Amino acid sequence: MDNTAADFKNQWNAELYDSKHSFVSELAANLVELLSPKPGECILDLGCGTGHLTDKIASLGSEVIGIDSSVTMIEQARKNYPQLDFDVVDARKLAYTEKFDGIFSNAVLHWIKEAEEVVVGINRALKPGGRFVAEFGGKGNVNAIITAIFNALQKAGYPTDTALNPWYFPSIGEYGSLLEKHGFQLTYATLFERLTPLEDGEQGLQNWLKMFANSFLNGLSTDAQISTIIDIENQLRPSLYKNNTWFADYKRIRVIAVKL
Ligand code: BEZ
Repeated sequence: MDNTAADFKNQWNAELYDSKHSFVSELAANLVELLSPKPGECILDLGCGTGHLTDKIASLGSEVIGIDSSVTMIEQARKNYPQLDFDVVDARKLAYTEKFDGIFSNAVLHWIKEAEEVVVGINRALKPGGRFVAEFGGKGNVNAIITAIFNALQKAGYPTDTALNPWYFPSIGEYGSLLEKHGFQLTYATLFERLTPLEDGEQGLQNWLKMFANSFLNGLSTDAQISTIIDIENQLRPSLYKNNTWFADYKRIRVIAVKL
């Protein structure tokens, strides 16, 4: 195991994200097909990260703006695709009115507990008849990993406050109702399992924890973080490590909703 204190400070390390977590955008390539962007349309990529799907949407002929709340992600997106339009914007504070034909979002909405504020802003930002196409973690997402994290923290006597959990993983019913409450017609919704291989062999789970689950570990000393990660790995190895590859027990929700 190769841990340093610096590893844990990389909350949104865009290089680590691009080099070790490229599966995030690769797995969502067919989400762009669900969006089906057309030449001449104006599309918002909400939570664009380092811009790979923004570029895919642009390559199909649409005008596209990529937004993300992370400055480092947007800096990397601008480096990756200098010809495209990117902005640092908080998804809870969208300030667009009837600007977009489509709003697209991959693997970001589970980071925002204030889902209602986001849905209201998305509805306002769409033209009437515009579509919202999104994929993110749904009910039960990474349950095994979350359980192992809390087990490890509890066994070692560290804080186990549920507020350490940064994620919002709604059911289809919950999220569909939210969309309907705020002026959308839900035209497609699904929740499905996607056991997802993590890159980098034996390092895969610790990379994932450092990139995505650091809110559980940040309050601990570096030594405590290292021993907690080892405990999490030991708990999950029988179920989530096969043939030198770690897997994350992802459950995805996908929705398409049209602004009425
Ligand atoms: C997800 O894509 O489902 C996810 C990614 C990071 C943390 C939690 C969930």
